[in-house]
Amino acid sequence: MRKNWIEESDELELILEAIHDDILIADADGVILKMSKSFETMYGVKREDTVGKTVFEMEEQGIFKPSITAIVLNTGEKTTMRQKNILGRDIVVSAVPIMDGNGKISKVISFSRDVTDYLAMQEQYHQMERKIQQYSAELQELRTKVGKKGDIVSESPSMTSLMNLVEKIASYDTNVLIAGESGVGKSMLAKYLHQTGSRYEEAFVEINCGAIPENLMESELFGYEAGAFTGAGKSGKAGLIEIADKGTLFLDEISELPLNLQVKLLKVLQDKCFMRVGGTKPIYSDFRLISASNRNLRQAVERGTFREDLFYRINVINLEIPPLRNRQEDLIQLIARFMEQYNIRYQENKKLSPQVYKCLLNYRWPGNVRELENIIERIIITSNGNEITEDALPEYLLKSMGDREPESFQEELVSFEPALSDSVHNLEKEQIIRAYQKHGTTAGVARELGISQPTAYRKVKKYIGIKKK
Ligand SMILES: Nc1ncnc2c1ncn2[C@@H]1O[C@H](COP(=O)(O)OP(=O)(O)O)[C@@H](O)[C@H]1O
Ligand SMILES: [Mg+2]
Repeated sequence: MRKNWIEESDELELILEAIHDDILIADADGVILKMSKSFETMYGVKREDTVGKTVFEMEEQGIFKPSITAIVLNTGEKTTMRQKNILGRDIVVSAVPIMDGNGKISKVISFSRDVTDYLAMQEQYHQMERKIQQYSAELQELRTKVGKKGDIVSESPSMTSLMNLVEKIASYDTNVLIAGESGVGKSMLAKYLHQTGSRYEEAFVEINCGAIPENLMESELFGYEAGAFTGAGKSGKAGLIEIADKGTLFLDEISELPLNLQVKLLKVLQDKCFMRVGGTKPIYSDFRLISASNRNLRQAVERGTFREDLFYRINVINLEIPPLRNRQEDLIQLIARFMEQYNIRYQENKKLSPQVYKCLLNYRWPGNVRELENIIERIIITSNGNEITEDALPEYLLKSMGDREPESFQEELVSFEPALSDSVHNLEKEQIIRAYQKHGTTAGVARELGISQPTAYRKVKKYIGIKKK
């Protein structure tokens, strides 16, 4: 009965015509009785040339390498193996014996499936998995880089009180704005806040609003749906706001965020939800926002380049890191720390000559801690001998030496660096006014800013005009 059905069924014929898998049926002698249509393309043979031949002949011709039907006829057991077919495609072939009433093989049915695309996908998947492992290892390292409070030098009175405030607020989820000149340690502090807060096990997602072209910024932040714009890719992409879910979003140089995106960001902060570019589904993201700016955002609000409502939203807590030149105690510590760190890194044991040390203490450090760190690394590498002498220092830094008092020198620098002078001036003015408002005395200003009282007096007079008591 069964024999008839297999050999004579029109329905089976139809099935073999339509099915996408390659099916081959052979009898107990290995003679091919039937095969599916798709077999032709997979093995590069014609059905009419193949039916009636034996699988052994096919093996000899190199079409089956080897013939799985032949193996099953030999072993009597169901078998599965991987092969390459004549077209070079990867296939998985299985064959099962069909027994007659006497326990003898009457037919062997084999079927194969093209797994080339599947294998390619698997390979891609493994590659992606490897990449993810690399990234998470790197991430782990980055996360542990600034971890302990001791990693942040804060000897000066202004940094001490700032760090006390940081300890207090770290565990709250409030939005924090970190202000300060370039290189004072804003990014470092943002990471520290994340690590000491309740979201430390989640992502810390950082984006520098000043470094990304305006036209890419929106899709970076909000992500996009497939086909949102030319070149948007087939699958769409999550934006950084989405990735920061449960973690911290750090927007560096937030003053550079274009106005239209300021509006969108404000909406996200209000609603906790947004849409991808070209998307229609609302996406929820719960993140803590830390922003940083080396520009005076209040001034930006006044000039109309920064939205006032956004300013208040992001500025719930304001942390201002003073410039290094006003933190003499930190400078001393940082020089010591970087000397040790880079001596170890480059296996040196170099020391600063007294003149060089004085020079570093007197310099204004417009690039702040970053500039200091770079200079120390550079002089450790480039100097000869164990004592680092003046010839290792760049010209502009050498000029900060001499018999001048540090403060009188500072004023001179304003005149020989015309490009800087305006902003330096404004910054100094701002600090003097703020300190004077706080303390109401020039002695207080002197203490806070680490300058001498006569200098404080002169500057207060210059910027405010002192009222005699
Ligand atoms: N108080 C500090 N103690 C130790 N290292 C610091 C301190 N402040 C800054 N740094 C280091 O100086 C470099 C610049 O700091 P960064 O946070 O990138 O500055 P910013 O973001 O304000 O431009 C970093 O390598 C940082 O680790
Ligand atoms: Mg930074």
